[in-house]
Amino acid sequence: MREIKPFKVAIVGTGYVGLGTAIMLAYLGHDVVGLDVDAAKVDMLRRGQLPIYEPGLAELMQQAGERLRWTTDYAEAIPEADAIFICVGTPPQADGRPDLKYVAEAARCIARNLNGKVQVVVNKSTVPVGTGDWVARLIEDNALEYHANRYFVVSNPEFLREGTAVHDSLYPDRIVVGGEHEEGVKRLVELYAPLLEQSFEAPEFAPRPQAYTRPALVTTSLGSAEMIKYAANAFLALKISFANEVANLCEHVDADIEEVVRGIGCDARIGPRFLAAGAGWGGSCFGKDTAALISTGADYGYDMPILQAAVTVNTRQRHVAITKLQRHLRRLKGKRVAVLGMAFKPGTDDLRDAPAYDCIARLVDLGATVVAHDPIAMDRARREWANLEYEEAPTAQAALKGADAVLVMTEWQEYKDLDWSAACRLMRNRLVIDLRGVVTSAPAATVVERVGRPSLGAPQDTTLAEGVA
Ligand SMILES: NC(=O)c1ccc[n+]([C@@H]2O[C@H](COP(=O)([O-])OP(=O)(O)OC[C@H]3O[C@@H](n4cnc5c(N)ncnc54)[C@H](O)[C@@H]3O)[C@@H](O)[C@H]2O)c1
Repeated sequence: MREIKPFKVAIVGTGYVGLGTAIMLAYLGHDVVGLDVDAAKVDMLRRGQLPIYEPGLAELMQQAGERLRWTTDYAEAIPEADAIFICVGTPPQADGRPDLKYVAEAARCIARNLNGKVQVVVNKSTVPVGTGDWVARLIEDNALEYHANRYFVVSNPEFLREGTAVHDSLYPDRIVVGGEHEEGVKRLVELYAPLLEQSFEAPEFAPRPQAYTRPALVTTSLGSAEMIKYAANAFLALKISFANEVANLCEHVDADIEEVVRGIGCDARIGPRFLAAGAGWGGSCFGKDTAALISTGADYGYDMPILQAAVTVNTRQRHVAITKLQRHLRRLKGKRVAVLGMAFKPGTDDLRDAPAYDCIARLVDLGATVVAHDPIAMDRARREWANLEYEEAPTAQAALKGADAVLVMTEWQEYKDLDWSAACRLMRNRLVIDLRGVVTSAPAATVVERVGRPSLGAPQDTTLAEGVA
């Protein structure tokens, strides 16, 4: 590993993004203190435990060793820091606008603890255009002793994906740094030098991909950097909604969305990624960020019909599983439905805006008994989905026992590897609604319904009101 110039870094907010950033920067050789207002979280981190599930992150944290500390105290983290990253949540409000109260509180607390040396305040949270200027003003208004040109606010949006955060942090496609002051941007570029030059030794458990060279460095104005994050997520959400829209049409005309995506994805202008039809997008970012962008448009009297349509298609897609179930089982009242997968995608325990939530809630509304399983997210669901009435199953097989149907909501490897023939034999009625493409052939006497593809095991529009067993 090449010698680096270690920065003193403070990370404010140690959630999915803050933790990933803190641990990655410490691994690269910086001296990092992670700060959170959640004392229970900080206690866990001090004990060397991670409050979230993220593959590889615990191993990376161990390797970062002494360079990583945790605190709840701004006075301990901020005064000495060269770079201060704001990584707090920006959850959606009812009108679609992100709630910036955590950003505001973080900015005020940072301001009160600045010490007059040159410090860069880095906005990593996803925030609407203009927030960087607002944070700069909050700092100016709240700093005990304000020194102009000593505090630079820079935007450095985060692109990591939960489930692959370690890989994404160490081998990003690009690093975006936006700011109005050359000095602030220069410092952040210096901080990221080991990543930009890929001069660090790759951890054994997260080797550098063979074809990977270096991330692109994209330096922009503050506003453009803020917009890049929203535009990127909106475009990805749009791709998925587009695939779902075409998939639904495929069902009408007897075409297969997987073949269609293979065909269009070979076109370099389109590419094959983010075109998986299924239960629709979810997670903490896409819904929130599309809504935020639309609301920014509204603030300027500007409609965003393409984005609106992407959201509408996604909302409709959330009902596909129920429609398919009703087509087969007719009434759902009194039926037992297994739900495999609660997290919005595999590799994470994040349940925010997970399609499985809507499905379970709707099934319960319609009078079905739901028995749910997730390899990782069940503990979190017990806390965060306490309002939902469902039974927990200790294993996927147990969920299927006596069920009238099973919905596959998350493509966990465990479900791909499941002995579906044996598991389906445990069902009362062998109906699989596979929204994630995990079942590749139909077990005996079983119907497997898919999204945008012919069903397996029986003609697509056969009605199975009496069951198939
Ligand atoms: N989760 C993702 O995959 C992802 C990816 C890219 C960008 N983002 C963006 O990054 C930001 C953070 O997302 P997240 O998923 O990590 O959120 P999170 O909810 O997991 O974590 C936020 C953390 O901030 C802490 N916090 C709140 N107020 C604080 C304060 N005043 N001082 C210190 N800590 C405080 C909370 O206790 C929490 O631990 C959001 O803007 C999000 O849109 C998230």
